[in-house]
Amino acid sequence: MTWVVVPAAGRGARFGGDLPKQYLPILARPLLAHTLERLARHAGVSGLMVARAADDTRYPGWREIGGKPVLDCIGGASRAESVLAGLKALPAAVRDKDWVLVHDAARPCLRQADLGRLLDHGCAHPVGAVLAAPVRDTLKQADDAGEIAGTPPRERLWRALTPQLFRRATLRRALEAAIAAGDAVTDESMAIERLGLRPMLVEGADDNLKVTTPADLALAEFVLARLGRDE
Ligand code: CTP
Ligand code: MG
Repeated sequence: MTWVVVPAAGRGARFGGDLPKQYLPILARPLLAHTLERLARHAGVSGLMVARAADDTRYPGWREIGGKPVLDCIGGASRAESVLAGLKALPAAVRDKDWVLVHDAARPCLRQADLGRLLDHGCAHPVGAVLAAPVRDTLKQADDAGEIAGTPPRERLWRALTPQLFRRATLRRALEAAIAAGDAVTDESMAIERLGLRPMLVEGADDNLKVTTPADLALAEFVLARLGRDE
């Protein structure tokens, strides 16, 4: 029983425009529809919980996608609060120790193989796992003047992607603790790490990109057009 919580309550401030980015058309369909369909297609996924904004008038009210149940709830002011709301709203049949995936609404290009590898490795790990891509550029550390203060070795640096996989109760406890402490956690793993736990990194494709700016939308459309339906 592995449900996916999909935070989709953001405003897309960096993208700009009136239409929140999760509803922008990609290949003639809303971005969010692509994201949910790719998740629902995987045999390891039992259902989808979408956290949407309270004033979201565009949510089509899906009840089922690809034969999997789709539920929705109202998200919060931060991504962490939206994910927490989703965890709380999961059906009672999802037990505390069951694994839950969290996947950004704004990442429509997830591959089935990456989702499968994350589930295989994460469910075999005591804490869980995060899909991630190795850093390929040389990184620079800036000082206050904007001059280069150092070049951190990139061998052990990864970009955190989604999905991320944790046990329902552990993730709930981790997010509640981070929110109570006022710590702005930018992904679920960061909340888990705060508790002293060490999730596993699972390498995923670079092109599982998050649509943040208009240029990303064009890239995501390019990636999706080339990805086979079952890829
Ligand atoms: N998200 C959410 N609730 C929030 C903020 C973000 O559910 N209060 C979701 C977004 O809808 C998105 C994902 O978290 O699917 C990743 O966030 P991000 O890319 O930052 O999206 P936005 O917050 O919408 O964009 P921006 O930060 O530019 O406003
Ligand atoms: Mg944001």
